[in-house]
Amino acid sequence: MTVLPYKDKESGKKQQVADMFDNISPKYDFLNHFLSLGIDIRWRKKAIKLLKEIQPKSILDIATGTGDFAIESLSLNPEKVIGVDISEGMLDVGRKKLKKRKLDDRISLQSGDSENLPFADNMFDAIIVAFGVRNFENLEKGLAEMYRVLRPGGKVVILEFSKPKSFPFKQLYNFYFKNILPTIGKTISKDNSAYTYLPESVKSFPDGEIFVSKLDTLGFKKTECRPLTFGISSIYTGIK
Ligand SMILES: C[S@@+](CC[C@H](N)C(=O)[O-])C[C@H]1O[C@@H](n2cnc3c(N)ncnc32)[C@H](O)[C@@H]1O
Repeated sequence: MTVLPYKDKESGKKQQVADMFDNISPKYDFLNHFLSLGIDIRWRKKAIKLLKEIQPKSILDIATGTGDFAIESLSLNPEKVIGVDISEGMLDVGRKKLKKRKLDDRISLQSGDSENLPFADNMFDAIIVAFGVRNFENLEKGLAEMYRVLRPGGKVVILEFSKPKSFPFKQLYNFYFKNILPTIGKTISKDNSAYTYLPESVKSFPDGEIFVSKLDTLGFKKTECRPLTFGISSIYTGIK
């Protein structure tokens, strides 16, 4: 069953996700770092390091949001980084951040849907996605589009929440994710649903080996899953 942010609305998942991120965009960065105690920053760094070996010159950051993963990818010294997202609110916050940090000439943020990417085949050396794939309306279509725009030999790096499996992290995490995080998230973001949708969408996401098998089916080679911090997040990689 599809997990929706706003269960009482009739619009589809894509529209609801875009609306939700528009709503929480002013507080997104703060809540991200606060609720994860800053671990999300370390996770992004670790994920980007996995691209070092291919020294990508062109990088596409899908579901870029406010651009943090795209910014982290600059450590690889690429020639071109493009970030796409369906939430104008998130992109707006991202553009202001880039301007403030004088990075707006190195990263371009544009409106774009992961399931219908506005790019030619084989265009990018690397595709990166952080905490985006869980929100796609049609996951398989989004992954197929990544494969299409990646050049042969190029690498995909996907960072996403996963479900810790071992005692006592599983229990601690479930308590935090279900009880503490939604209350803080709701109070600060003023969106009643966004931080309830977060644990629900993680729960229903096909993580670990199931996700790896989806990449395999699409044709990605040398696919891998690397769990981070007791399995709270995972990095998935594959080569075209
Ligand atoms: C949790 S945020 C992650 C933002 C950023 N990548 C980060 O690491 O902080 C998820 C983002 O995915 C975007 N998104 C969801 N579905 C999308 C789609 N079909 N195409 C493009 N972006 C999408 C949302 O608008 C949102 O900005």
